[in-house]
Amino acid sequence: METRLVFPLVMFLGILLESNLVLPTPVSESDHSVLEQASVFETGKFHPDVGTASSCSPPRPLLIVRPEEQGTYPVILFHHGTGCKNSWYTDVFKFISSHGYIVVAPQLYELMPPSGQRELDRAAKVANWLPSGLRCVLPENIEGDLHNLALAGHSRGGYIAFALALGLADVSLEVNFSALIGVDPVAGTSKTDQLKPKILDHESCSFSISIPVAIIGTGLGNKPVFPIMPKTCAPDGVSHTEIFNECKPPCSHFVTTDYGHMDVLDDDIGPIGELARAVCKGSGWGVSRDPMRKTVGGIFVAFLEAFFKGNYTEYNNILQKPNYFAPATLDPVQNKSEGTSCSSLSAMSMPAFAF
Ligand SMILES: *[C@@H]1O[C@H](CO)[C@@H](O)[C@H](O)[C@H]1NC(C)=O
Ligand SMILES: *[C@@H]1O[C@H](CO)[C@@H](O)[C@H](O)[C@H]1NC(C)=O
Ligand SMILES: *[C@@H]1O[C@H](CO)[C@@H](O)[C@H](O)[C@H]1NC(C)=O
Repeated sequence: METRLVFPLVMFLGILLESNLVLPTPVSESDHSVLEQASVFETGKFHPDVGTASSCSPPRPLLIVRPEEQGTYPVILFHHGTGCKNSWYTDVFKFISSHGYIVVAPQLYELMPPSGQRELDRAAKVANWLPSGLRCVLPENIEGDLHNLALAGHSRGGYIAFALALGLADVSLEVNFSALIGVDPVAGTSKTDQLKPKILDHESCSFSISIPVAIIGTGLGNKPVFPIMPKTCAPDGVSHTEIFNECKPPCSHFVTTDYGHMDVLDDDIGPIGELARAVCKGSGWGVSRDPMRKTVGGIFVAFLEAFFKGNYTEYNNILQKPNYFAPATLDPVQNKSEGTSCSSLSAMSMPAFAF
């Protein structure tokens, strides 16, 4: 090759390389300070401890992940997905807890789910156990702040979280929830085959939920594993998109474009877990799920820092420049902010090259 061709080629490669390397790196001083603040996607400063609550008679077996350090922490009640074990979420729980949160995750059933109503009533009993039970399980110098109690769940557990917030349990709630997070929530197998009690009526902003909501969806959740099988794990019409449509402001929506319904789980979930994972389309072979787990954990933290502690910095950073801050690609990202009417919602969608 002639040198006069090689030189532009090298320069071109250099620019390509440079642009790849430079993308996540801030270019100016002011950007740098923003990046330093955006730490929700990195492990926090607390050391998480993983335990159970067998001695304090919880209504269901529980996994409890909390900081080792003395203090008072907000509490997240997290409901597992269909046929999943609460322990399969340990990585995400530890990540969230490292930012100063206590995660309580009941095992609502073993393998085969009961009716929606039965599962919901069990979840309500666990919630009602918290005021006395949490005090009993936690060491003396660690306290759960039940004035900052979030309701969350993955998949069918996301449905359970929304149904609880909608007051559909037959067991009356003795705690107040202050925030709600769904991780690829699924409310049935299709628009006409919803879990009962039904939560969706396919009308914009129709949920009577007044607490702030964040919904994390997956880009591959509505795709089949094999193109010949029409069944998907998070079917359109009963998944995150429709649930976002029906939630009232303040409500935000984040979609992890390149990940699937089960990619939030730990890597090591045993043979039964692998079987459960195999029926859902997920990230490709060799693709790390760590960016997905950190993105989900980081959104939990940013959202709760905003609505529990009044610090909107990181939450708004993610909403405004999702692909600058989050380790997994987020698209679309939408925010129904307080004061907007439901008919005039604007979608914020930030392509990766927009900054
Ligand atoms: C809000 O959060 C940011 C990012 O974590 C932090 O740098 C800032 O100090 C916080 N602001 C207040 C008032 O606590
Ligand atoms: C829940 O909120 C209601 C209405 O604000 C209040 O009356 C009640 O005392 C609260 N319950 C608890 C357990 O904090
Ligand atoms: C998103 O909505 C929340 C809740 O109303 C609001 O506080 C926040 O400023 C909004 N953020 C952006 C970036 O629009």
